[in-house]
Amino acid sequence: MAYIVAATGNQHKLAEYAQLLDGQNIELKSLNDYPGYPEPEENGSSFEENARIKALAACKYCDVPAFADDSGLEVEALDGRPGIHSSRYAATDSERIAKLLKELDGVENRRARFVCVIAIAANGEVIETFEGEVKGTILTAPRGENGFGYDPIFQPDGFDKSFAELTQDEKNRISHRANAYAKALEFVEDEMSILDDEF
Ligand code: IMP
Repeated sequence: MAYIVAATGNQHKLAEYAQLLDGQNIELKSLNDYPGYPEPEENGSSFEENARIKALAACKYCDVPAFADDSGLEVEALDGRPGIHSSRYAATDSERIAKLLKELDGVENRRARFVCVIAIAANGEVIETFEGEVKGTILTAPRGENGFGYDPIFQPDGFDKSFAELTQDEKNRISHRANAYAKALEFVEDEMSILDDEF
């Protein structure tokens, strides 16, 4: 059995990853399996830099292959904000949503995209990074209870539902994370030996 550590303690992301990895011969560990893990400072200036920082730190600390993602919402009318600051934009999910809706009050251009960059690290170095995106529009009010973060106000192109109105399964077919993940998985399957470290 091959192991990989997901460098996150975020239960929502873990649930998405667990579902995406279902049926693969890879056992998913998380930072919750490594109590006391000192989280690195996410001081990169791009999704890719932050994903690299997180994957490398987890790989070095846990001494097994690791992957990390960095993701966020880029809003066209806000020149890409909140972007890499999506989680720090305000204190809670509902405050983040309220703040974004306020900034976009009366703004016609509602175009936005979720971006996710996954970095894979093994043997003390970052091996590869993969980017996924999903384009859509920002709604004028939150809708739906599923998912997390900005899901209630993001409507992916081609759907008349917000991300939070889709089931996890439906979201996982089109999300930025699923997208980046599909590219990463293809790479991992080709390079399975990078996961052969003993746990
Ligand atoms: P990260 O943990 O640094 O990648 O933070 C990404 C932040 O972007 C999250 O805290 C959410 O606010 C937002 N975000 C990323 N992916 C999603 C998603 O799939 N749905 C809703 N919000 C997301």
